[in-house]
Amino acid sequence: MFGLDGRVALVTGAGQGVGAGIAAALAARGAAVAVNDLDLDRAEAIAAAIAGADGRAVPVVFDVTDHDAVVAGIAEVEAELGAIDVLVNNAGNGGAEPMHPTPFRESEPSDWRGPIDVNLYGVLHCSRTVIGGMCDRGFGRVITISSGAGLVGLRLGVAAYGAGKGGAIGFMRHLAIEHARLGVTANTIAIGLMETASSEVTAALARSVPVGRCGRPTDVAALCVYLASDEAAWMTAQTLHLDGGVVQS
Ligand SMILES: NC(=O)c1ccc[n+]([C@@H]2O[C@H](COP(=O)([O-])OP(=O)(O)OC[C@H]3O[C@@H](n4cnc5c(N)ncnc54)[C@H](O)[C@@H]3O)[C@@H](O)[C@H]2O)c1
Repeated sequence: MFGLDGRVALVTGAGQGVGAGIAAALAARGAAVAVNDLDLDRAEAIAAAIAGADGRAVPVVFDVTDHDAVVAGIAEVEAELGAIDVLVNNAGNGGAEPMHPTPFRESEPSDWRGPIDVNLYGVLHCSRTVIGGMCDRGFGRVITISSGAGLVGLRLGVAAYGAGKGGAIGFMRHLAIEHARLGVTANTIAIGLMETASSEVTAALARSVPVGRCGRPTDVAALCVYLASDEAAWMTAQTLHLDGGVVQS
């Protein structure tokens, strides 16, 4: 079960963190993986690590917020690896690195575009570019990595980030239902705080996680392997809470 031999996957923002873990796990199950990032060195390092573990991976640099760059980057991947069967929309952040939490009443309109561009438009650009081919071939898996901040209100100063993440959750439901008869599934994983995030605020939040720890890339990667698999054909249009029990449904 859950083998991905013969599948081609694209993981965006996979040069580090959660995306790197997802790319490694998909490759370990047999998929050929395109490791996307803004940063060539990061993408090359992760692709090389996958190759070193007997997986197949290629680095591909593009900015998911730039539609033309997404189309060109995906064409490059498909020429090298074949048509994309699995898209993991993982690239995302607060719109600027590092994230600068700001109470909404103190924010400026210029603060909002960045988080919405990467967390919502990035998902639209990549999904739109691969969806037609997936439908034509009768198989596709679109997985978007969202956040608890897209599901519930937080007193953390991340409202625009929550808007981008929440927008992607809504979009993914429509994507799923529009293509549900065509062999394409679309699901969202709303993850909680990862161990990689660290600050005084996140340390306090970590103590409140019911299972007693923050998330690891392998936690997210395991669910992605399932969602990418043939066995997950009946799982679509869902937003899965993967957060150590913080948000309950
Ligand atoms: N870390 C957390 O605690 C946490 C919590 C909830 C949700 N998330 C979400 O999980 C996903 C991964 O988070 P992470 O902590 O691993 O992120 P990260 O910041 O560690 O890594 C993200 C990678 O994406 C790349 N990237 C950023 N913008 C890009 C763009 N426009 N185009 C292509 N690549 C881009 C970066 O260069 C970086 O290598 C993100 O969508 C994030 O919003 C993370």
